[in-house]
Amino acid sequence: MEDRTPRPEELEPIERAGVDELRAVQLERLRRSLRHAYDQVPHYRRAFTAAGVHPDDCRELADLARFPFTTKAELRDNYPYGMFAVPRERVARLHASSGTTGRPTVVGYTAEDVRTWARLMARSIRAAGGRPGDRVHVAYGYGLFTGGLGAHYGAEELGCTVIPVSGGMTERQVLLIRDLEPEVIMVTPSYLLAIVDEMERQGVDPRSTSLRVGIFGAEPWTEDMRREMERRLDMHAVDIYGLSEVMGPGVAVECVDTKDGLHLWEDHFYPEIIDPVSGTVLPDGERGELVLTSLTREAMPVVRYRTRDLTRLLPGTARPMRRIEKITGRTDDMMIVRGVNVFPTQIEELILRTPALSPHFQCVLDRQGRMDTLTVRVERRADADRAAAERAGAALVGLVKNTIEVSVAVEVLDPDGVERSMGKMRRIVDQRRGG
Ligand code: DLL
Repeated sequence: MEDRTPRPEELEPIERAGVDELRAVQLERLRRSLRHAYDQVPHYRRAFTAAGVHPDDCRELADLARFPFTTKAELRDNYPYGMFAVPRERVARLHASSGTTGRPTVVGYTAEDVRTWARLMARSIRAAGGRPGDRVHVAYGYGLFTGGLGAHYGAEELGCTVIPVSGGMTERQVLLIRDLEPEVIMVTPSYLLAIVDEMERQGVDPRSTSLRVGIFGAEPWTEDMRREMERRLDMHAVDIYGLSEVMGPGVAVECVDTKDGLHLWEDHFYPEIIDPVSGTVLPDGERGELVLTSLTREAMPVVRYRTRDLTRLLPGTARPMRRIEKITGRTDDMMIVRGVNVFPTQIEELILRTPALSPHFQCVLDRQGRMDTLTVRVERRADADRAAAERAGAALVGLVKNTIEVSVAVEVLDPDGVERSMGKMRRIVDQRRGG
C-alpha cells in the first residue's frame, strides 16, 4: 500500500501543539460555549438552574462534570428549533438525524458552523491519507443525512476533485470508479462490500482499481473487517466517526500512519466517558459511553450530549488529541441473549475468521417460549461450495460458544441472501413479539 502519511508541515498548528496548549484552548472555548448555551437556549438555562450550576462555575475542564447531560429525548422534545442558539434567519443549513422511529432530531448550522465543519472534514480526510488533488468518490448518502454533504464540503476544502455520487445504483458506482479513477472513496463499510461484490461480478479485480484510501464510518466495523477490506482492495481502510447531533462526520478519525483508534478533534469537542448506568465520569482508559460537548458550535451548541456509543479514551499518538477506541456498538445495539451481552461487532469478528463465510450478515432475535434466541444469518463466500459453507456455519456456532459464551443458531445463505444497504446496514432484526 502506498505511503499516504501527510507531511508535518501540512498539518494545522493545533495538530502539532502540546497537550497543555490544547487544554488551554479547550477551557477557554468551553467556558464561552456554556455561556452561549445558557444565554441563548431556554432548555439549557432551565437544566443548568435545576442542577444548581451556572456557566461561571466552570473554572477548569473537570468542572464540566457538574453540568447536566443532554439526551436525544431532550433534543426531540425541543423539535424542531427549540435547541437553536441563534435567530432562525442566521441558520444557513439544516440536517436531521437518521432516527427510524418517531420524530427526527433537527440540527442547525450557521454559515460559520458549515465552514468549521468543512475545515474539520478536510483535516480528517488529510489525516486519513487523502491529499489535495485527489479525486474523492463520495458514496455516502446526500440529503438530510450528514454523510454526503459533510464529506463533500471537506474534500472540496482540502482541494480535492469531488465526485458526488451518493448511495445506490451499485453497478454505476463500479463504472464510475473504473472510468473516473478516484484515489479516495468515502462510504459506509457495509456498502463498500456491496460495491466490491459488484466489481467481482463484473469481472473487475478490486485490487486493480485506482483506489488508495477508503474512509469508512457511520456504523461500527471491526479490525477484522479492516484486514478484509485492505486485502480485497489493496488500499488503506480508515475509520471516521461523527453524529448529526454534534456536527456530522469528522468528530474523530484515524490517522493513516497509525490506524490505532480515532483521534477526536478536541479543539472543537470535549469528550468524557461515563458509566452508562450511573452517569459517573470514568477515568481515561475505561470503557463506557461517550459524552460530547461542542466547543465552537454557534447554531446548536450541545452540552454533555449522551451519544450512546461505547468506547474508551486513549492518549494521543499521531496527534496531541486523545483517541477513542474503535466503537464496539451502541448501548441500544446490545443484544441480551440468555443473560449474555452480545454486540453485532463481536459476531462480525468471528465470521471474518471463518474462511468460507462472507462478511454479509444479520443478527435475528426471536423468542421461543420465554427464551430469546439469536440466529446469525450469513452468506457463504461466492467461491465456497455449499458443503464447505455448511461446515463453516457449524464451526461458527462453536466459535461463538467458546468466545462469547452464548448459544446461537447459524443459517448459511447463498450469495445475495442477506439484504444489502446503500447506507447504514441494519445488523439486528428483532422478531420478538412485543419486543
Ligand atoms: O452517521 C455521521 C457520519 C457520516 C459519520 C459518515 C461517519 C461517516 P448519524 O446518522 O447521526 O451520523 O449517526 C450517528 O452512527 O452515534 C454511531 O452510533 C454511529 N457511527 C458513526 N460513525 C461511526 C463509526 C453519522 N466510525 C451514529 N463507528 C453514531 C461506529 C459509528 N459507529
